[in-house]
Amino acid sequence: MTGAANSRFLISPGGALRGSLRVPGDKSISHRAIMLGALADGETRVSGFLEGEDSLATLAAFRAMGVTIQGPEAGRVLIQGVGREGLRAPAAPLDLGNSGTSMRLLSGLLAGQGFPVTLIGDESLSRRPMRRVTEPLALMGARIETSPGGTAPLHLQPVTGLRGIDYALPVASAQVKSCLLLAGLFAQGRTCVTEPAPTRDHTERMLAGFGYPVEQRGARVCLEGGERLIGCDLDVPADISSAAFFLVGASIAPGSDLTLEHVGMNPTRIGVVNILRAMGADIQVLNPRQAGGEPVADLRVRHAPLRGIRIPEDQVPLAIDEFPALFIAAACATGETLLTGAEELRVKESDRIQVMATGLAALGIDQQPRPDGILIRGGTFRGGAIDSQGDHRIAMSFAMAALRATGPIDIHDCANVRTSFPGFVTLAAGAGLGIEEFAS
Ligand code: S3P
Repeated sequence: MTGAANSRFLISPGGALRGSLRVPGDKSISHRAIMLGALADGETRVSGFLEGEDSLATLAAFRAMGVTIQGPEAGRVLIQGVGREGLRAPAAPLDLGNSGTSMRLLSGLLAGQGFPVTLIGDESLSRRPMRRVTEPLALMGARIETSPGGTAPLHLQPVTGLRGIDYALPVASAQVKSCLLLAGLFAQGRTCVTEPAPTRDHTERMLAGFGYPVEQRGARVCLEGGERLIGCDLDVPADISSAAFFLVGASIAPGSDLTLEHVGMNPTRIGVVNILRAMGADIQVLNPRQAGGEPVADLRVRHAPLRGIRIPEDQVPLAIDEFPALFIAAACATGETLLTGAEELRVKESDRIQVMATGLAALGIDQQPRPDGILIRGGTFRGGAIDSQGDHRIAMSFAMAALRATGPIDIHDCANVRTSFPGFVTLAAGAGLGIEEFAS
């Protein structure tokens, strides 16, 4: 977050990824564990919590609203729930750093509280679109001011009560869906959200885990306001979005044989596995089991020759955070890979279509960005310098490209890797990537 020193990754070319490792906890689930644990009656014990800056921003926000939270310590967090009426006005604006999930979910959760609150973020978060949440929240009776461009800071004013709505999402967004469901907890009557395509359903699953009745019928999810949540124990699986860098790295690097342990395999998150397999990747799903209401498995991935494909549009929301890594796979595949229907990538932590296209071009890969996707022709990476534009997933994706490059890759602006993947450099180096980090 603000004030932290920046850093640079220098990765020597070649190598293979081998052994067994567990990537940090799922970011989406970690945020939700803090939010629902705080609103619950009684204690919630979390293990496997992601100690990254994004989920820590959510944790700090709830501490600032009077919730006692112990930890995190080795992924363990103990939350003393304050119950649905127990949050207190924070003394200062809540700084959510780089975290879009914190800002969008909190805008819903806090819209019906009886106190004013301001949500702020870093430069990247302050550029991201917030009308997608403030407009439906206004239909529920919320009063939220944005900047003239519809961005943060968000100023939430107290209102006498929210009312449930029946809302069809214009974009497939789990953040907007979750925002409205969280607002719905505090609304009079029923809140229903219909999505144009399936998106991650961690909020729905976790609400059920806290004993809150949620009704899911096809693309529509509904809940009644006013029920209570009951504290529980939660085991957060390893984040498939963090595992994705290793799935791609091991797939492209000859000699690789890597097992990723305890990875979350929620069907709404496994687009990266489906897409890589369609490209010819060798990924085995081992020991499938359940943890904390979510499916998990160990994933064994071995090097395999990849071929370019047309990515099915129904996989886009299921792999939305994994496209930077998938573009690296596409650059190592034979033939062309075409992505369409992915305009949402332009409003993530960076414009991921443009920033990836610029980086791929710098490494000698032929590609054509489009408004809603990109065409990538497989080729050979030469070494070079990459500007990650402060986007954690861009930095980690290009780090994996070095496994197949002819020269070193130098990646700038990498401090934000800490938002989602603390310890990335150590874990990747331990598996065989020739990576070093320098202060910059
Ligand atoms: C998230 C939803 C996705 C994803 C983000 C996390 C969530 O965003 O990109 O990293 O935890 O709900 P959108 O809902 O904007 O697609």
